[in-house]
Amino acid sequence: MSYHDGKGTILSHILPSENDSVLRWRCPPISARVCTCMDAYETIATKLDVRDFDSKKAVPKEIKQKVLDAARLTGSGMNSQHWRFILVQDPKNLKQLADDSTTGQWVGGANFAVIVLTDPKLAFHGIDAGRAVQDMQITAWSSGVASRLYTGFNEQKMRKDYAIPANLEVTIAVGFGYPAKKITGKRKNRKPLDEIGYFEKYGSKLDASRIA
Ligand SMILES: Cc1cc2nc3c(=O)[nH]c(=O)nc-3n(C[C@H](O)[C@H](O)[C@H](O)COP(=O)(O)O)c2cc1C
Repeated sequence: MSYHDGKGTILSHILPSENDSVLRWRCPPISARVCTCMDAYETIATKLDVRDFDSKKAVPKEIKQKVLDAARLTGSGMNSQHWRFILVQDPKNLKQLADDSTTGQWVGGANFAVIVLTDPKLAFHGIDAGRAVQDMQITAWSSGVASRLYTGFNEQKMRKDYAIPANLEVTIAVGFGYPAKKITGKRKNRKPLDEIGYFEKYGSKLDASRIA
């Protein structure tokens, strides 16, 4: 199995080693019949959130469209589709986005960004935003485009600069671009499933051998 680094370079394994506990919880070996499922898993397993983007390499419009379409296709609570997505691709506006952020100044170096607005009257609006963002990030990374989200905004400035109406909340912004550096060999810093997962009820240690 091999992966790309977003610049056309084929990487060898960047998944955890055979001894890594993450691997114990992988899907069982797959047949060609279900290999698209594995593709989704591999994309998730290899994706890292990136702050440094390659300023010389633009993301093709087809990929941007696909990323936005992935957001559109995401399911929302009661299928309410209350969300709105603002594509920001003008470098001037990306710099403005960075100025308007308290935790995502790196977005100024992204190739494009998407601001996710949601209806705060809906209790599940944050979940909906998170799901749409994850689908956009996974879609981007499956084409070699890296990304990172942030949630710290100067709200007043955001509303003014991006004409955001009062009834919608600025929930998440995501910056996208080809990664500036290869991410070969970098590992995800994640807890093993047997530390965070339980079997049938809270407190009962999740043991892979008991999964039917
Ligand atoms: C709900 C949420 C909020 C986040 N907010 C920020 C943020 O404000 N600024 C930022 O740079 N990264 C933010 N991140 C990115 C996380 O720091 C990142 O997903 C985490 O460190 C794992 O990164 P990795 O997948 O590269 O290991 C946020 C992620 C999530 C899921």
